[in-house]
Amino acid sequence: MALSMANTWPLPALLTWALAWGLHLALRSGYSSLWSLALPIAVGVVMSLLQQRIWRRLVTGLGFPLSWMLSSGLGGDSGGLSGIASWGWLVPLAVLVVIYPMKAWKDAPVFPTPADALNQLPEAAPLPPGARVLDVGCGAGHGLQALRQAYPLAKLHGIEHSRPLAWWTQRRCPWARIEAGDMWAQNWTSFDLVYLFQRPETMPRAFEKARAQMNKGSWLVSLEFAVPDVTPTAIVEADENGRPVYLYRL
Ligand SMILES: C[S@@+](CC[C@H](N)C(=O)[O-])C[C@H]1O[C@@H](n2cnc3c(N)ncnc32)[C@H](O)[C@@H]1O
Repeated sequence: MALSMANTWPLPALLTWALAWGLHLALRSGYSSLWSLALPIAVGVVMSLLQQRIWRRLVTGLGFPLSWMLSSGLGGDSGGLSGIASWGWLVPLAVLVVIYPMKAWKDAPVFPTPADALNQLPEAAPLPPGARVLDVGCGAGHGLQALRQAYPLAKLHGIEHSRPLAWWTQRRCPWARIEAGDMWAQNWTSFDLVYLFQRPETMPRAFEKARAQMNKGSWLVSLEFAVPDVTPTAIVEADENGRPVYLYRL
């Protein structure tokens, strides 16, 4: 239980940064500056290799060296980063947490749906004009834009955990209705198609929710991640890299 919690993103990155900084501070007084930097960086590299996705590796491994560079004033007295206070590196982190609350990290970070990724959807999942389509975790609206391209006559809705992102997306996509809130607390009953681009771990829960709430004949659609042990009704290709879009007819 404790181990699986420690694996829940972004805890591995936060623990790695804390460990690296702890090591650095402990070694700084007694050892050469080379050791007090090399060991924490090595810890970051080892921990990053335990992550499966490239962006998580980068965040885990680069957290310490980047924050050290900012806080130690790399650039010397001549200016550059030296003007930044030692806590300066926390500012972008704080901004990130406000835009993108930790709760949302559990389901997925802000990765956009590519513009043409959903063009093939209507062939596999045709919808009548005026059908209600929902992007759960609509981020900055890229999924909504791809859905609109695929279903120009649909009524598009989005829900997003991050309030600033929901606000921003409503401005970017005035033709859609965006709600700030938790997708798990939302009722999906009235939607003909629910689209998501989340994480593999999210899929079983999303499928159970769709089965419990959505009407017979409606669709659950996921970019890249399948529902484990459930045969999709159809799979279409999202892009030239062969990324799949999984379709489940309920
Ligand atoms: C990978 S992004 C996808 C964004 C968008 N759907 C797209 O395809 O371009 C996932 C988004 O889901 C949001 N999210 C994660 N968990 C959520 C939840 N429980 N309720 C609402 N939004 C959530 C995140 O904040 C993030 O913006």
